[in-house]
Amino acid sequence: MDAFVIRGGRPLSGSIRVNGAKNAALPLMAAALLTDHPVILRDVPDLTDTRNMRALLVELGCQSDTPVAFTDPLSAHPAAHADRGPTAPLTLQTTVQTPHHARYEIVRTMRASVCVLGPLLARRGRARVAMPGGCAIGDRPIDLHVRGLAALGAAVELDAGDVILTAPDATGGDRRLVGARVYLGGRFGSTVLGTANVMSAATLARGRTMIECAACEPEIADLARLLTAMGARIRGAGTPRITIDGVESLSGADHTLIPDRIEAGTLMAAAAITRGDVTLTNCPLDALVAFTETLTTAGVTVEELDARDPLRARCRVRSDAPPAPAHVTTQPHPGFPTDLQAQTMALLSLARGNSVLTERVFPQRFLHVAELVRLGAHLEHEGPSVIVSGTERLIGAPVMASDLRASAGLVLAGLAAQGETTVRRVYHLDRGYDQLDAALASLGADIRRVRDGVPVAPARVGDFPAVPVVA
Ligand code: EPZ
Repeated sequence: MDAFVIRGGRPLSGSIRVNGAKNAALPLMAAALLTDHPVILRDVPDLTDTRNMRALLVELGCQSDTPVAFTDPLSAHPAAHADRGPTAPLTLQTTVQTPHHARYEIVRTMRASVCVLGPLLARRGRARVAMPGGCAIGDRPIDLHVRGLAALGAAVELDAGDVILTAPDATGGDRRLVGARVYLGGRFGSTVLGTANVMSAATLARGRTMIECAACEPEIADLARLLTAMGARIRGAGTPRITIDGVESLSGADHTLIPDRIEAGTLMAAAAITRGDVTLTNCPLDALVAFTETLTTAGVTVEELDARDPLRARCRVRSDAPPAPAHVTTQPHPGFPTDLQAQTMALLSLARGNSVLTERVFPQRFLHVAELVRLGAHLEHEGPSVIVSGTERLIGAPVMASDLRASAGLVLAGLAAQGETTVRRVYHLDRGYDQLDAALASLGADIRRVRDGVPVAPARVGDFPAVPVVA
């Protein structure tokens, strides 16, 4: 298993490009199941999760233009790239419309596989997807997904840990779903992938669907842009009410992903915590208003350098002093992103005063707290909140990553800590960041990847043979 060894205290500087959004890529890739025509996606980040989604889609009858195989994230190693430019376009084309089962072996390692549910049901009349179970950030139920798809007429069965959905008359009659009003509100607000599933399924349903309490995340608006380019009729994506008028079939499309707002926020926090001066290109500041607001409240300078094209904006992040304290509550978009909570906690651990972070989306998303305490942070976990008593310094130590964004928080803390920090189990990071170590090193960080204690030289693409798909 890989680890990062970081020697902290070096301010980051320079310029770096933000990659395409992981959380847009996964539902966009699943949309290829809705049509027999080729779907071309540009700027898909090369991550364990996107590679595994490709492998799942190939199992479900999709052809992919580059060889893929499912890789267990525990054993995955990132393919290295010489630079951080856009990756090669990914072409997906569904040629076999019969498979309909997303296996537990894949779903248990990548919960986002659940986003094949809506497309499979709408296009093939049937879908069998393993229920994802829990993960490090908490329970990950899919009851809202199932509720929404049942509202479109799907019959629901549970069998051996799988949820099986069948469209009306799937025995050979008109297998189409039927448009309806769907409410997707849950105890913690709406559901992002649940909205993606229902919106995707509704594109081929008979009649009109109205999704109330839809997720407003930018990734949903990006999925709507792709579906519309494929011929779907969608209005209101990015707002709490989305209206979809079903069509008979969808064509292919050529679509460029939005930039990854969470990677952007992570790099912005890295600049701030090291008191550096970093310019981000391809940076979606319009999708980061709540987070940027917190940074500026904390005394970090965030300058938008090129607002002409919001999706390609550049921004410069500078800091030359410890952050001021802040109060943060995570909420569904446009509120403060839960996916930047751990990174912000690391930053505020060094604030001149006390901060409070409250988690309203995944109330158990605090596995990074104990590890940050090992680095000298003064944190008190009280129910859905953590009280952060700012300290002057963090001290490097070995720490353990537990999930994707918690790992990012630990890396940021290591960049600022005195001495050496070793972050173990960074396979969590490789699921959602394309070589974060190389990216940070390009900005001046003293960070290196080690495998079983041996430094890993930056490999060429393809050095790591794909693991054969488990039969
Ligand atoms: C997406 O997950 C993102 N993942 C998550 O990012 C992100 O944290 C989350 O949205 C919230 O913004 C992808 O897009 C691949 P939800 P999703 O359904 O859609 C509860 C990362 O680090 N809920 O919006 O699975 C749920 O338990 C990942 O990149 C139900 O109760 O999240 C949670 O408390 C982590 N029933 C809340 O809603 C359901 O049927 C929001 O979950 C579905 C969700």
